[in-house]
Amino acid sequence: MSTSVMDWLRKLLHPDSAPARTARLDAAHARRVAALHHQGGFARGWEPAECAALMADSAVVTDGVFSGAGHSPDGFVISRKAADEAEILSIVVAPSRRRDGLGRALLAAHLARLAGEGVLQVFLEVEEGNQPAERLYRHFGFREVGRRKGYYPKPDGTRASAIAMRLDLA
Ligand SMILES: CC(C)(COP(=O)(O)OP(=O)(O)OC[C@H]1O[C@@H](n2cnc3c(N)ncnc32)[C@H](O)[C@@H]1OP(=O)(O)O)[C@@H](O)C(=O)NCCC(=O)NCCS
Repeated sequence: MSTSVMDWLRKLLHPDSAPARTARLDAAHARRVAALHHQGGFARGWEPAECAALMADSAVVTDGVFSGAGHSPDGFVISRKAADEAEILSIVVAPSRRRDGLGRALLAAHLARLAGEGVLQVFLEVEEGNQPAERLYRHFGFREVGRRKGYYPKPDGTRASAIAMRLDLA
């Protein structure tokens, strides 16, 4: 990966961020990833077997964030690569560990890994009104590139729009 991409990612991490380790996850972490995903508040949860199958896919990249000396991640981010593009499928930090810079540390490490693996553009979709996620993505320079009206079903029967975002890593 180029020095400029590394410098850019380093600058985005605030100096007062919580100390956190990040590491690549594999299918052995599927149960924990499924549990974290269930805490993400999504309309449809992921089952452990579904996570294991996804994480065993060679095109899928999963990173975890760990605080303290723990071996169980406090958050994960998962992307699928295709040629020089990647789509972030999900990112979740455990509710008790939110607002402490873990999401930022996780996404910085993940984007650095994707850049190192030759990814030039990263895409994602976020529910309109999901302020924490939108702020996190905008912090890294993701820009809105479109909207899908009524994309996400809500528990109360209504539907929320999806904001499509893109980040150029080149
Ligand atoms: C989105 C999420 C991963 C952020 O993780 P986090 O560890 O709390 O994030 P951080 O502490 O690193 O903060 C990242 C940014 O989000 C902002 N943020 C975090 N929680 C916030 C909140 N409740 N309200 C407003 N902004 C918030 C922070 O201020 C920070 O913004 P900045 O970079 O402009 O200073 C976490 O809220 C989460 O797991 N949400 C549920 C799952 C989800 O919605 N995932 C996204 C699906 S698209």
